[in-house]
Amino acid sequence: MLKLKKLKTLIASAVLGAAVASPALAEESNAHIHHGPSSNVAWDIQHIRLVANGDAKRGQELNTKMFCATCHGEKGISAGRNWPHLAGQQANYIYKMLKDYQDKKRVDTDSSSIMVAVAQKLTDQDIADLAQYYASFPLPNNPKVKNFASPEMVKHIQTLLERGDGKRMIPPCLSCHGIKAEGGTTDMPALAGQTAAYFRKTMQDYKSGKRHNDIYARMRYIAEALTDEEIEAMAQYFANMNGNQ
Ligand code: HEC
Ligand code: HEC
Repeated sequence: MLKLKKLKTLIASAVLGAAVASPALAEESNAHIHHGPSSNVAWDIQHIRLVANGDAKRGQELNTKMFCATCHGEKGISAGRNWPHLAGQQANYIYKMLKDYQDKKRVDTDSSSIMVAVAQKLTDQDIADLAQYYASFPLPNNPKVKNFASPEMVKHIQTLLERGDGKRMIPPCLSCHGIKAEGGTTDMPALAGQTAAYFRKTMQDYKSGKRHNDIYARMRYIAEALTDEEIEAMAQYFANMNGNQ
């Protein structure tokens, strides 16, 4: 079990961009890639209840005390473009992610190792409380980023979002992620307002299979079918979306 002080040092070095000197952690992470099921989280009534009854007030305290705010902000709006925004994210999805990091199911890359370390310090109740805290905010409404895609490409992306692509067996993104990409049922995450850099990275991690905590490999199949150009255009498209409207 990591001491809080060691965790603080780990976070400080991660924020400063220094290499995290923790070979043991890296080794442990690699050893778990592609072994066993993609996640241990099963949405039975106990888990649904636990998350639904999470205490946002306590979550706010944990957000500060556990240094989450250093990267994800006081209100779930992250300070850096590589750190995902959590504001307005689906509580169940946040719960699943933190459990997946804790269970070493999401160990893909260097950037996950910090999350694997912090998640070890959290109880299930802590996780439910943090999940309700972030979920209590509206979705991010970012300053608009420049969309480098051509108007044809943007139109093509809108079609993929709303209708999918039968030829490539890609179902419409919004059928699962919500009509405004505000998040769907159970643990389908919101995508609206997510940082472009994080979106691009995590889609590439699904595509390469480095991220493999998605149940039934749903997102891995979808990401694999998309071109890099499509992923890039989508990253900008979602970053500019305001899921609150
Ligand atoms: C040093 C910066 C840093 C700190 C501190 C940190 N995170 Fe993270 N967090 C990240 C990064 C980077 C990722 C994306 C990692 C990846 O690609 O797997 C992430 C991912 C997440 C995710 C998944 C988001 C998604 O959209 O899938 C959640 C939830 C999360 N963090 C919650 C927390 C909580 C709760 C804490 C405090 C207990 C915390 N984080 C502390 C940097 C940080
Ligand atoms: C069949 C339902 C379904 C469809 C269709 C779908 N997704 Fe997903 N998506 C999910 C689920 C479930 C997750 C959470 C997976 C996990 O637990 O890692 C997810 C996760 C994601 C994430 C990670 C979010 C984060 O915060 O890390 C991104 C990005 C994403 N989807 C983008 C897309 C895009 C773009 C499309 C359309 C091309 C799409 N999805 C279509 C179900 C779907």
